[in-house]
Amino acid sequence: MTQAAYLSNNQEKFLNELLELLRIPSISADSAYKQDVIAAANYIKDKLIAAGADQVELCETAGNPIVYGEKIIDPTLPTVLVYGHYDVQPAVPLELWETPPFEPTIRKTEIHPNGAIFARGACDDKGQVYMHVKAFEMMMAEKSLPCNVKFMIEGEEEVGSTHLGPFCIANKDRLKADVVLISDTSILANDTPSIDCGLRGLSYVEVEVTGPNRDLHSGVYGGAIANPINILAKMIASLHDENNHITIPGFYDLVQDLTEKERTALNEAPFDLDAYKKDLDVSDVWGETGYNVLERTGIRPTLDCNGIWGGYIGEGAKTVLPSKAFAKISMRLVPHQDSETITKLFKEHFERIAPKGVKVEVRPHHGGEPVVTPIDSNAYMAAEKAMETTFGKKPIPTRGGGSIPIVALFERELGLKSVLMGFGLDSDALHSPNEHYGLFNYYKGIETIPYFFKFFSELEAKK
Ligand code: BES
Ligand code: MN
Ligand code: MN
Repeated sequence: MTQAAYLSNNQEKFLNELLELLRIPSISADSAYKQDVIAAANYIKDKLIAAGADQVELCETAGNPIVYGEKIIDPTLPTVLVYGHYDVQPAVPLELWETPPFEPTIRKTEIHPNGAIFARGACDDKGQVYMHVKAFEMMMAEKSLPCNVKFMIEGEEEVGSTHLGPFCIANKDRLKADVVLISDTSILANDTPSIDCGLRGLSYVEVEVTGPNRDLHSGVYGGAIANPINILAKMIASLHDENNHITIPGFYDLVQDLTEKERTALNEAPFDLDAYKKDLDVSDVWGETGYNVLERTGIRPTLDCNGIWGGYIGEGAKTVLPSKAFAKISMRLVPHQDSETITKLFKEHFERIAPKGVKVEVRPHHGGEPVVTPIDSNAYMAAEKAMETTFGKKPIPTRGGGSIPIVALFERELGLKSVLMGFGLDSDALHSPNEHYGLFNYYKGIETIPYFFKFFSELEAKK
């Protein structure tokens, strides 16, 4: 049988298995789902074993287990390390899902006329991880696996990969490879393949503003005592100037402008502003003066408030001057910025701008460093050729706006570059209600991955 025949004979099985994985609510942010997280890890472990991987195990960490497995066909051949994550974001707010997040259903959409799987994790990242498991099964069944492969699928990506770094450092030998292959990013459109060549870093903080030592009657005290919610809102608003430039001193010090050539290349990606606005139902886009959407999300750093709370939010009105207000704030970082420095700059600035009458506390969360991946490596060229083969079009190099913090560590600690051969779409509602993944994208991924292995092995053999 050929690979294409194997895929078409197994389409339904490949889909049903993914649906089963998607039914497991492996939410890493909420400890109530710990058992489900372990169940998802076990599911992938069992499928890797069934497909023919060796040394498959759940590697325990202080957090969620890491699924490891490998197939070494010949130690002198190159090795591809496949990385992905089986944990998912929380599904709340549940009422905004058209069908329940952990009861996958297939529906057609304008962008996915052949149907998409609606479920939390469908695209990010279970659907994309599972493509690798099935592509591996296919190569094993067809005896066409041309080089060695190692799988490392973690369960804490959505909460900062806390335990994966130490695991990598402790397992340098076991993780020896020539490249890391990751499918956890997007393509521009189903008829416009692309490969992300960079990811932004992340600095994430929680702030707490405290006014009076207790909630007060807003009539008796209001106007005479600083209201922490009013103050916090003002402080957050002051973090951008009239050009939507971030006002933290030193924030842009290490940010490099792209050369005109790089900028032109970035803007070669087809981008339909009207369709973008229509999809999000906004009358206009917003952002830093002097940059367009692709630049604002790809190569410029940002600061966003992710959540803000305090005071009375129950039914009806309660006249209260709250004692405290809180916010979660994230900053996306670009090459040369580093998360620790940026977090420190934020903290110093935020404490400095706090007016008298309130106390401010800034608590850092997990962070991650930005990365740029090469476009002249064998691995990139193999991904390019693989996508060109299956899409019939050469993929465009792009910059991803999101973050995968562990990618910088792969480079620093394991000396490994990554290739971000993702198959999702930005409009697939990752982290949002009604997340979905196109059937086209799922099968296209399974079809493309073996070509990556083939071309990568061929290119490496010529070295
Ligand atoms: N897969 C995403 C990252 C991503 C999505 C990159 C689309 C490029 C395009 C990943 O699972 C993710 O959501 N990462 C988090 C960071 C993490 C520390 C919570 C992010 O970017 O917010
Ligand atoms: Mn992801
Ligand atoms: Mn994610």
